[in-house]
Amino acid sequence: MSLICLNDYERAASAILDKLALDYYKGGAGDELTLKNNVEAYSRLRIRPRFLRDLTETNTRCSLLGNEYKMPIGIAPSAMQKMAHPEGEIGAAIAAGKAGCVYILSTLSTTSLEDVAEAAPDTHKWFQLYIFKNRAVTESMIRRAEKAGYEALVVTIDAPVRGTRRSDIKNNFRVPPHLKLENFCGELCNGVRCQPGVAGVNHFLISKFDTSLTWKDIDWLIEFTKLPVILKGILTPEDAQLAYEHGVRGIIVSNHGARQVDTAPATIEALPEISRAVGDKMLVMMDGGIRAGNDVFKALALGAKMVFLGRSVLWGLTVGGQKGVEDVLEIIHTDLELLMGLCGCVNVKEIKPQMVVHESYYWKL
Ligand SMILES: Cc1cc2nc3c(=O)[nH]c(=O)nc-3n(C[C@H](O)[C@H](O)[C@H](O)COP(=O)(O)O)c2cc1C
Repeated sequence: MSLICLNDYERAASAILDKLALDYYKGGAGDELTLKNNVEAYSRLRIRPRFLRDLTETNTRCSLLGNEYKMPIGIAPSAMQKMAHPEGEIGAAIAAGKAGCVYILSTLSTTSLEDVAEAAPDTHKWFQLYIFKNRAVTESMIRRAEKAGYEALVVTIDAPVRGTRRSDIKNNFRVPPHLKLENFCGELCNGVRCQPGVAGVNHFLISKFDTSLTWKDIDWLIEFTKLPVILKGILTPEDAQLAYEHGVRGIIVSNHGARQVDTAPATIEALPEISRAVGDKMLVMMDGGIRAGNDVFKALALGAKMVFLGRSVLWGLTVGGQKGVEDVLEIIHTDLELLMGLCGCVNVKEIKPQMVVHESYYWKL
């Protein structure tokens, strides 16, 4: 099968993965209306290209948090990447480094944060953090991430409890017996341990998340760590404004790949009002439903400084391990670069809000 776009990787991966893993990766919350809309909402937006501009020096580079990246596309944190391929998190992290982009490691990874750091020293790595009821567990994980060279902490705020994913319930989803959530193994993590195959993420570990979390805990975290704190899961300008007031360094507009609140807005729908509210004073990024260069272009036009790929990376990993992820990143990078040329943008700063409109714009004229 010739694989030339990200949807090809989804089709190919779907033919490889067993039902348990495929449903876990693919599924969303409830009736999966947001899951569908996360992707479809991009198709309701129109790109307004500009022409007769000098394109001899086109590039997709971007700078944020003091670093330069080859493209404004990174890898979102997703749990249990070894379920896709034995190369798992290490393969994906090395691929991100080769592509010149950010890799965010999930707390619920099947490779320890130290092993990922050691195997991918040249990759810009951020660590996604869940805050546990047992604060000592959280503190130990933060110190480990700092020591291992992670450059930012990405706190996921949209999963105080787990969304209802019906296929996982029907499949009685568990961490497969040959895998472990390695950040909780080895070093004793004060009682938060995951027994492979016996107590899966859904029944055990998630019950350890701190459901009493509030903005006070974000204040605590910012004091506690020397790393920049980024909040992932913002969906309203109200929470974005609070994030700014509490001093976080950036936000990721996200609905957790539509795995939490069904009928929450598609992230590309939520993005414009959030970037209008805080985009000129803090770093706004986003994820959700990005499958091609034109999705990235639309998100950048509507105020995101960087976007992240979730499932598409899992499909790349399934199909070809590290090489599969490299290919996925190369395809979307080339696609974005080409589109920028077609639209008269020599760099990402030239992708302006007026270049993307809702389809209804043309019917109001
Ligand atoms: C299988 C899977 C596991 C995920 N695990 C995590 C996780 O551990 N932590 C987290 O913050 N987000 C997690 N997410 C959400 C992603 O980081 C991201 O928000 C989402 O996948 C982006 O949407 P996309 O898959 O349409 O690209 C997960 C998503 C999927 C599909």
